[in-house]
Amino acid sequence: MTRKLGMRGNQHLGLCTYGLYAYDSVWLLARALAAFFKQGGNISFSKDPRLKGNGGRLRLDSMSVFDGGNLLREMIFKTEMTGVTGPFRFTSDRDLYRPAFEVINMVGTGFRRVGYWSNYSGLSVVPPESLYSKPPNISSSNQRLHRMIWPGQETDTPRGWVFPNNGRQLRVGVPKRVSFQEFVGQVAGDDGDDMFRGYCIEVFTSAVYLLPYSVPYKFLSFGDGLKNPDDTDIVHVITEGVYDAVVGDIAITTNRTKMADFTQPYIESGLVVVVPVKELSSSAWAFLRPFTPPMWAITGIFFLVVGAVVWILEHRMNTDFRGPPRKQFITILWFSFSTLFFAHKESTVSTLGRIVLIVWLFVVLIINSSYTASLTSNLTVQQLSSPVKGIESLLASNDPIGYQLGSFTHNYLIQELGIRASRLVPLNLPEDFVDALRKGPRNGGVMAVVDERAYMEVFLSTHCEFSIVGQEFQKNGWGFAFRRDSPLAADLSTAILKLSESGELQKIHDKWLMRSACTSENTKLEVDRLELKSFSGLFSICGTASFLALMVYFALLACQYKRHYYSNSDQSSGGGGGGGTGGSRSGRMRTFLSFVDEKEESVKSRSVKRKEMEDSRGSSIGGGDASSMNGSY
Ligand code: GLY
Repeated sequence: MTRKLGMRGNQHLGLCTYGLYAYDSVWLLARALAAFFKQGGNISFSKDPRLKGNGGRLRLDSMSVFDGGNLLREMIFKTEMTGVTGPFRFTSDRDLYRPAFEVINMVGTGFRRVGYWSNYSGLSVVPPESLYSKPPNISSSNQRLHRMIWPGQETDTPRGWVFPNNGRQLRVGVPKRVSFQEFVGQVAGDDGDDMFRGYCIEVFTSAVYLLPYSVPYKFLSFGDGLKNPDDTDIVHVITEGVYDAVVGDIAITTNRTKMADFTQPYIESGLVVVVPVKELSSSAWAFLRPFTPPMWAITGIFFLVVGAVVWILEHRMNTDFRGPPRKQFITILWFSFSTLFFAHKESTVSTLGRIVLIVWLFVVLIINSSYTASLTSNLTVQQLSSPVKGIESLLASNDPIGYQLGSFTHNYLIQELGIRASRLVPLNLPEDFVDALRKGPRNGGVMAVVDERAYMEVFLSTHCEFSIVGQEFQKNGWGFAFRRDSPLAADLSTAILKLSESGELQKIHDKWLMRSACTSENTKLEVDRLELKSFSGLFSICGTASFLALMVYFALLACQYKRHYYSNSDQSSGGGGGGGTGGSRSGRMRTFLSFVDEKEESVKSRSVKRKEMEDSRGSSIGGGDASSMNGSY
């Protein structure tokens, strides 16, 4: 009573009724027959006319019909017994009570048992009857079978259908790199096959494994093994029908997407500039390094200007800002530079002077803090310097530039950045990079190397004398290339995203590319000095405040002078003496300047005296109200 269930065609898994051995079968039939005869059952056979063939001839497959069959079947279903394998009966639905099956794995013409199935415990590797004493547990974690052997002696579970490729393996071209083999490197394969390893290969195999179907593929190497092959050429081979796909460190560029379909990028890798860097030695003039020369110059000029502005605003009413010209000059210098340390001793009494000073002290505060921070960083962190600051420096010069042979960089530098082809030097191995950079442009080497960040990070991890300068100036990523309209490109993109989301992509990256030999927290490229443009806003505010204060001051002064001048003129014309202003232009200028230089208090007291005189003369001459000139400005 063994039956196979399930799979058609290649039968590799089957179920056999378990426990109902021949002995039990005979014993069951005997018990059922006994009950059958007890019930008056009779065994006789008749010919079923339906079994007759045309012409009255018996069909070969004709069979006898057992007349009491229905009763015997009833008896069998009612039979309950304990066989060699334990209790045996049928349920009211005529199903076996606790049916159990062996799960067998068909291997070639034989088979092997890989476990059991029962409706009590589900799949198990132990016989079901040993589980009947325990509570049923059909949770998925409890469902186990021994390892299955699949066609081709594979123990990995096949994933349904196979990617249709006219019955042949996918031909995958792989660049035969001679450098940076962490990404793609050929290894000796069995029976002459091309075998590869590296970051790109592992990403590919991991992504293929995630596909919901199997993709049989074989790697075919591309390149002579002496120099890195041109990655655009290998993508082009797809269009010739030689490869179905290309796997490797292939950057996704516009030109290449016209020839093949690419997956999502599995690594980002823009172009960077790598140069030799020197350690900056500390010098006696290191304290000047935080600011650029224009910044130093404008800061110095502002100190003097603000000193002069405050002097003008304070001169007429503050004795600290009066005295002989020499003393006043020294006061301006001393006052302005002592604000650097907020240590000025001279008090400011005018409102306008105080406004200008407070704005200036705020500017000084910011300049001070920025200088301190920058100087601390300069003196405590090891500084590396290079005359090349980024791609802009290279574009502005005529020096040779190195690039990696076979990379799209060559075309990019010529076509997109307009660099002359004669300036570009092809470099094959990392040793060539080192050699060319060390020699420098004057000795037949290169000024800088332009290459993708992914390679350069690996390169720099073991060559600390070089560094990336400036920003990544071109962004791209690497992907796998497939023939146009291949469904694999989209499916592998999904698989790559799954790898990325699960963190597997990062693990593969760290396994192959994680290097940290030169990384030092206390090393950095020369910091940019603080430039004037960073402080232009502050200087503008201070300049505007000073300018407006002077405008207001001179406007008020002019009004005051006008009143003073006309009242003196009136006095002169009335024969009262006093002001002696003179009528010429130069005379009026002298009068104005002496008025400006005069202490405000004197002007006021003279006005008061004049008013008293006028009052005593009892004559009303009209004129300025001295009180309007009171108050500081
Ligand atoms: N990664 C080099 C290239 O794609 O050209």
